[in-house]
Amino acid sequence: MLSRVWSGTVVGIEGILVGVEVDVAGGLPKTIIVGLPDAAVQESRERVKAAIKNSGFAFPVRQITVNLSPADLRKEGPIFDLPIALGILAASEQVESTHLSDYLFLGEVSLDGSLRGVAGVLPMAVMAAKLGLGGVVVPKENVQEAAVVENVRVYGFNHLLEVAQFLQNPSQFPAAIANRGEEEIETHLDLADVKGQYPARRALEIAAAGGHNLLFVGPPGAGKTMLARRLPSILPPLSFPEALEVSQIYSVAGLLKGKRGLITKRPFRSPHHSASGVALVGGGSLPKPGEISLSHHGVLFLDELTEFKRSVLEFLRQPLEDGFVTISRQRQTVSFPARFTLIASTNPCPCGYYGDSLKECTCSPRQRQQYWAKLSGPLLDRIDLQVVVRRLKPEEMLQLHTGENSHLVRERVIAARERAKIRFQDDPISCNAQMQSHHLRQFCPLDDQCRKLVDGAIRQLGLSARAFDRILKVARTIADLDASPSLQPHHLAEAIQYRFLDRLPY
Ligand SMILES: Nc1ncnc2c1ncn2[C@@H]1O[C@H](COP(=O)(O)OP(=O)(O)O)[C@@H](O)[C@H]1O
Ligand SMILES: [Mg+2]
Ligand SMILES: [Zn+2]
Repeated sequence: MLSRVWSGTVVGIEGILVGVEVDVAGGLPKTIIVGLPDAAVQESRERVKAAIKNSGFAFPVRQITVNLSPADLRKEGPIFDLPIALGILAASEQVESTHLSDYLFLGEVSLDGSLRGVAGVLPMAVMAAKLGLGGVVVPKENVQEAAVVENVRVYGFNHLLEVAQFLQNPSQFPAAIANRGEEEIETHLDLADVKGQYPARRALEIAAAGGHNLLFVGPPGAGKTMLARRLPSILPPLSFPEALEVSQIYSVAGLLKGKRGLITKRPFRSPHHSASGVALVGGGSLPKPGEISLSHHGVLFLDELTEFKRSVLEFLRQPLEDGFVTISRQRQTVSFPARFTLIASTNPCPCGYYGDSLKECTCSPRQRQQYWAKLSGPLLDRIDLQVVVRRLKPEEMLQLHTGENSHLVRERVIAARERAKIRFQDDPISCNAQMQSHHLRQFCPLDDQCRKLVDGAIRQLGLSARAFDRILKVARTIADLDASPSLQPHHLAEAIQYRFLDRLPY
């Protein structure tokens, strides 16, 4: 007897349909699985065999051939346990197979027949909805992430036996209902906690409004980390399509298992400086998204930038420019979205105290120069806003009143983004930081007064063409916050202020 069961795999964050064919025929009793990598085949075969026996079914003492197609696609092992088990049970007439081909089956089975969650269920549910399949059957652990997809019924079960019962009469079973993202972790980090620091707060607001990358430079204890962690509190909400895209990345990374469904808050990731290149940009033999993709539509915070390995930081250059990362492996090339706002912090010099009010810097000018030479270059060139954070004076620290709260700032950010969105109606970009040269020509024309100001700055600071483009983008965001249709000299002047690295005093 031959049976066919639908399953799936992911390439990048796209779900791909996989057909699982099972043939049970005479001959020597053995199980052959084709279309999977060797190690995964071996493990899957053993798990499925034990699960079938321990669920009270008979494991056919015949030759079993399992074929996973398309053959040339790299496939992850455990996902196919459930469809392989069902295929064997259907081909040996131990489960009802009338409705078998209406559903997509995903899941790992344990030796006792219970089902275990797998990674990538959300993109596969999206694919099943697109293909118009009757439904998706997944382990209970994965049910919430799949249920957020519209136009497809999702069923979650704990055991192989429950799936067999379901196949008897699927219409008796209610589909899962999406519980739309209540289980979000509330952060409670608010700008109201921050005293003083007006330039840094202003820079955070501009970064949020235009999606600009931001660097804080200051001595230890000045409040750089505290400020950076409050960026998410002023970012606009995620739209549904954005939330779905972010959630698919988390699903593929296996981070949605047993949790909420949709991720509805902008991600904030702060990898440790010991993070490897793979952890940061993604990779592995079956490529998984890294921190830059887990920050998609949100914030990637690199605290103490100088502590990161330079070779690791180099990996960020291309994604920062393109908004996605491409990972090449022997048999396949995948790409993951990676459009994030980068926020980084660093000390002003090796000892940390250059320009500080508290302590004297003990570095030589040459040491400071080398420090910045090591840091700067292509990565820092992609950071639009570079801001010095000074230590608060004791009297500022003691003052009782704090700054504006995040809610108020966020309102202004949302209004500014709305203005930008109207401008980009016909473009695939969503914020000022993403503007290309032709957008700059179109949206950032300079009048004579502005031109004069910029000319002076270019001459004085020796700005590169790229730096000039960055200034225009930031000025455009400042103008949006100001509800000004045109760029004014004071918008440009403020934007030039944020080129700290072009004005290095040493
Ligand atoms: N502007 C500020 N308002 C209130 N507290 C502050 C401020 N700056 C620093 N602090 C306090 O000092 C601590 C250290 O700041 P932190 O952000 O870790 O400094 P840095 O990252 O620059 O070394 C903070 O956790 C906070 O308690
Ligand atoms: Mg810090
Ligand atoms: Zn120093």
